[in-house]
Amino acid sequence: MQTDYKLISRIMAKKNIGADLEIRGWLRTKRESKGISFLNINDGSSLAGIQVVADSARLENYQSLVPVLTTGCSLRVRGELVKSPAKGQEVELLAAEIEIYGPAPAESYPLQKKRHSFEFLRGIAHLRPRTNTLGAMTRIRSNLARTIHDFFHRHNFYQIHTPIITTSDCEGAGEMFNVTSLDLARLAEQDDQLDFRRDFFGCPASLTVSGQLEAEAYALALGRVYTFGPTFRAENSHTSRHLAEFWMLEPEMAFFDLADDMNLAENLLKFLITEVLEQSREDFNFFSRFVDKSLPARLQAVRENNFVRISYSEAVDLLRKSGRNFQYPVKWGTDLQAEHERFLAEDYCQGPVIVFDYPKAIKPFYMRLNDDGRTVAAMDVLLPGIGEIIGGSQREERFAPLLARMEESQLDIKNYDWYLDLRRYGTVPHAGFGLGFERLVQFVTGLANIRDVIPFPRVPGNAVG
Ligand code: 4AD
Ligand code: MG
Repeated sequence: MQTDYKLISRIMAKKNIGADLEIRGWLRTKRESKGISFLNINDGSSLAGIQVVADSARLENYQSLVPVLTTGCSLRVRGELVKSPAKGQEVELLAAEIEIYGPAPAESYPLQKKRHSFEFLRGIAHLRPRTNTLGAMTRIRSNLARTIHDFFHRHNFYQIHTPIITTSDCEGAGEMFNVTSLDLARLAEQDDQLDFRRDFFGCPASLTVSGQLEAEAYALALGRVYTFGPTFRAENSHTSRHLAEFWMLEPEMAFFDLADDMNLAENLLKFLITEVLEQSREDFNFFSRFVDKSLPARLQAVRENNFVRISYSEAVDLLRKSGRNFQYPVKWGTDLQAEHERFLAEDYCQGPVIVFDYPKAIKPFYMRLNDDGRTVAAMDVLLPGIGEIIGGSQREERFAPLLARMEESQLDIKNYDWYLDLRRYGTVPHAGFGLGFERLVQFVTGLANIRDVIPFPRVPGNAVG
């Protein structure tokens, strides 16, 4: 670890006035006037950079430096921290030494001082973390991830690492990416029969869509566990809420029923939002000012109100009586569409809402069948502006009903025999849920497009850079 220089976020305090300090970072802007350059330098440790005053009277190499001091260049500065005589910052660094690490020629460097559109920035995913918005998002994302681990640690959960490569389609939606070591180009050329026995695993394998099934095995041994990692879905969705590769947090709890599951989901969201506002105040204020002015009120609604809980059947009634002209008609037995979810969260509840007891036909095989025989113990948490952020359920812990649902869903039972073992031996009531991490980051930052809350978004038609 380099210890001879200081992070900018750590030194910009009045108590350091008079100190001789060294910083390293990237030049954001330069303003020149009469042999003095005012440089704004940012090292990523906070939203605010530091103002460096480069004075030709103090710097021997000033004349040779000036042409290289362009937006994006990387540099080291040593100097004295002084009280700033100008408005805009309390302190500034009076440069005694400036050394350039790498230039960023203005003719070609894509990130100039002006404001760039999100779309333009997506085209340079490797450079966009140097912007205020992506930098602030990244710090908030990191704090949220750490806070997730804090929450579960406090509640006596163990983190488990579930596999990325799997043979089970947990959600049963058939949206899997295949994993193979076969030479597909050669196979196509030879017009060969696809024989998975010759493939790496000796059978078809895929990237996981969810770590839930494996998490269940560990919950039925360690009680309370969670898995938090990347998941993959080959759904051809071009929306601002879907990615082909996204991160999901999945807690799984033995001896929990659906009500316990909903309580945990509500407590978790409240905790995460409260903590992140504390830890990322400066970045959060940036989003409230420049991205979404209604952000503070929306987050407050989550922290302070009890989440409204309504059954799917009640939700259908509400939607039908709403008098709204929805694009997709509302009918008992069909899935709620984004427009319906948004009506419930934004108009009807004006805050978070949990919908539970969905029709079994629209939900995966592992959800516990209710006594009415036509609904399952499922729950979705819907947030204003986002829609579904969490999907969960009490799991079917009874062997016979589970097997019946699996057969109905036409699963290849031999791939799930291990899962059935969990019901054959020492089964218990248990429940869990999945939280879409990017949707959480969207909710906290107000960023409208999910492609702007993950470093390198993977979407249909793009996996480069
Ligand atoms: O509702 P889902 O599909 O639930 C599951 O996968 C369960 N196995 C979870 C569990 O019970 N352990 O997905 C959970 C959440 C959704 O509510 C949503 O927030 C997010 O994952 N999600 C996506 N986020 C981004 N892009 C996508 N394509 C997503 N699909 C789901
Ligand atoms: Mg869902």
